[in-house]
Amino acid sequence: MNIRRLTSDDLPRLRQFWKENWGDEFVVAHGVIYYPNTLDGFIAFDGDEWAGEITYAFSGNDCVIVSLDSLRNWQGIGTKLIQAVAEEARQQNRKRIFVITTNDNLNALGFYQKRGFHLVKINRDAMIETRKLKPGIPLIGENNIPLRDEIELEMML
Ligand SMILES: CC(C)(COP(=O)(O)OP(=O)(O)OC[C@H]1O[C@@H](n2cnc3c(N)ncnc32)[C@H](O)[C@@H]1OP(=O)(O)O)[C@@H](O)C(=O)NCCC(=O)NCCS
Repeated sequence: MNIRRLTSDDLPRLRQFWKENWGDEFVVAHGVIYYPNTLDGFIAFDGDEWAGEITYAFSGNDCVIVSLDSLRNWQGIGTKLIQAVAEEARQQNRKRIFVITTNDNLNALGFYQKRGFHLVKINRDAMIETRKLKPGIPLIGENNIPLRDEIELEMML
């Protein structure tokens, strides 16, 4: 499995991927709308096939992870993509990485905590506002849990 930086050639594929997996060509997190062309990222490859993607943005001392998807779970792809971003953020002298996930995503909450992230903030009922921008977001999320809140996790670098 290889990892390389996201380039402008990847944007159509990334938009399509987000649409299929996250319901639209943009991501909404902590009240911010993120579009692929404004982000940095890495793509994981298995041969010619996409095996995962991560996108991020820098803001002051922070690095925010906007999206992370592994298309081949349990093979270390998600971990490698996080490591690639952490390395880049350190090189750019950023102090903190944070990520927003939702209260239903127990897998992601476990995954990030096992990789050094701490739970730092709950934005209660954040999905009410997010649904105004993305009406397709279901009321019931993963694990049959009501999809309501955003949870912020951070790792200091
Ligand atoms: C969360 C997510 C990115 C994790 O990606 P992943 O590629 O499965 O992650 P990894 O393979 O690095 O790690 C997952 C587990 O596989 C294990 N693993 C890694 N390589 C392995 C291998 N070769 N053999 C067996 N297990 C392995 C890891 O130890 C890890 O287990 P742990 O968390 O108990 O330590 C992925 O589940 C995903 O895309 N979820 C849907 C989208 C999502 O929720 N994104 C985050 C939203 S913010």
